[in-house]
Amino acid sequence: MDRLKRQMLVLKALARNPRDMGTLFPSSPYLARAMAGAVSPHMAKSGVFIELGAGTGPVTEALLKRGIPAGRLIVIEKSPALAKCLQERFPHVDVRCCGAEEMSTCMPEGTRVSAIISSLPFRSLPREISVSIMREVERTLSFGGIFVQFTYALVGKMPFIPAEFRKVRTRLVPFNAPPAKVEVYLKPKAKDVIAV
Ligand SMILES: C[S@@+](CC[C@H](N)C(=O)[O-])C[C@H]1O[C@@H](n2cnc3c(N)ncnc32)[C@H](O)[C@@H]1O
Repeated sequence: MDRLKRQMLVLKALARNPRDMGTLFPSSPYLARAMAGAVSPHMAKSGVFIELGAGTGPVTEALLKRGIPAGRLIVIEKSPALAKCLQERFPHVDVRCCGAEEMSTCMPEGTRVSAIISSLPFRSLPREISVSIMREVERTLSFGGIFVQFTYALVGKMPFIPAEFRKVRTRLVPFNAPPAKVEVYLKPKAKDVIAV
């Protein structure tokens, strides 16, 4: 499927459910690379990488180019039309058509999750959905794992980030419509979390 057809799919998904889509355009290659650059195939060799809200796949493509093995990537996309497009584009990746709020049901219990890379539009999703997705992120991500999220809100704190997550990196990406900010959070190892 070429770029124009993918853009049409995004516009159709936006018309059907604007709050889920949260944008007119797929992420630019600059933004996709900034997201993928936060993770490395050498991170916890046995763990899986989970991508949330993959759309037509710009970040998926960047993750594979970064060297993340297709067999260690699980992609979660709620829209059936976009999930179908993703599975066609990336036949070796495990694409699940479901809500990120159900992500723990997508993998066997005890799976090590090295990183969760999210393009979900938390500022436009209903609050209760955002809260339950972030509960799933907190529960599913392994200790020492990385959570990556972008936002178009260039100033202010990202909403819904669990209290124990530590921000380890922020990167501005001006070459995107609109410009975006990528934030990277670490879920500290259990022994590093100070009980209060
Ligand atoms: C801002 S778009 C990002 C698309 C793509 N990753 C990109 O960077 O161009 C957000 C995507 O999240 C998906 N989405 C929204 N709510 C979701 C949910 N609860 N679970 C999984 N995917 C969801 C939408 O269908 C859409 O494809």
